[in-house]
Amino acid sequence: MKRLLSALALVLAPALCLTAAAWAGDPVRAASQPVVVPDTLAQRLQPCTACHGAEGRASREGYLPRIAGKPAAYLYQQLLNFRDGRRSNTTMAELLAHQGDAYLREMAGHFASLDLPHTAPPAAPAAPALLARGQTLVLQGDAARRIPACVACHGQALAGTLPAVPGLLGLPRDYLIGQLGAWQTGSRRAVAPDCMAQIARRLAPEDASAVAAWLAAQAVPPGHRAVPAAPGPAPLPCGSVSGAPP
Ligand code: HEC
Ligand code: HEC
Repeated sequence: MKRLLSALALVLAPALCLTAAAWAGDPVRAASQPVVVPDTLAQRLQPCTACHGAEGRASREGYLPRIAGKPAAYLYQQLLNFRDGRRSNTTMAELLAHQGDAYLREMAGHFASLDLPHTAPPAAPAAPALLARGQTLVLQGDAARRIPACVACHGQALAGTLPAVPGLLGLPRDYLIGQLGAWQTGSRRAVAPDCMAQIARRLAPEDASAVAAWLAAQAVPPGHRAVPAAPGPAPLPCGSVSGAPP
């Protein structure tokens, strides 16, 4: 794994552009064979897709989130969070350890700009009562537990809201459970006030499974993109939205 990661980190470093100038010592060769290694951001970020799926589309299996098409400010904050220890994932932290803010912003912009179709979710292997509870929490919340409806911030279509709230469809169930659990234990943190930490801690253990099961079972309609946030205040203040990087 270590070796794979250092190989990936090397590829991420801006590649050298060899041009005819590199052959200046050999004029004949310079004239006949200019060597140009193309260096586009998309090529440099190819290693990311080994895990996040072709062109940033995650596989439906396992733990890997899709990153294509998420709001740029959201992705940028997550890259900062991994690099600076507010989210803990060894792979992501090692990959980003030596990358500067400007390059992280470029990466985020690249993946945010991709518009790719989603694959259909696998059939939901969950009890109907669990799915029904999940649907209620997502669409209506639970006033008794002071849990706002997820759609209040993530958008009516759950496609995310600009500038910095991500969509919740098209993510593997295990990934969703993992993120809510990480907020409950404090191993994932966002800029304060961390609204998601508060919400995750108000969820009963079976509630986290319920929302994850229901969300992961929804098909993602074509043209599913983050929309501007609804006017008016969110049900809870979120530092990662109010302090979102421009
Ligand atoms: C070896 C596999 C691997 C590689 C390579 C990899 N990632 Fe990740 N990435 C992960 C895993 C696993 C997670 C989920 C971590 C967690 O549980 O928080 C993740 C999470 C993320 C997230 C957060 C997604 C979200 O919705 O919050 C972003 C953004 C991201 N990766 C971007 C990148 C970029 C950009 C690259 C290339 C520089 C990259 N990743 C390379 C495994 C990988
Ligand atoms: C008050 C607004 C608000 C409400 C209500 C809300 N969220 Fe969030 N959610 C956010 C913000 C902001 C983020 C991005 C946090 C960050 O930057 O790390 C987020 C991120 C997430 C993520 C991480 C997605 C990823 O790709 O890693 C999950 C999962 C999530 N929310 C689930 C839920 C669920 C389930 C509910 C309903 C029970 C809910 N949220 C309700 C604001 C909200």
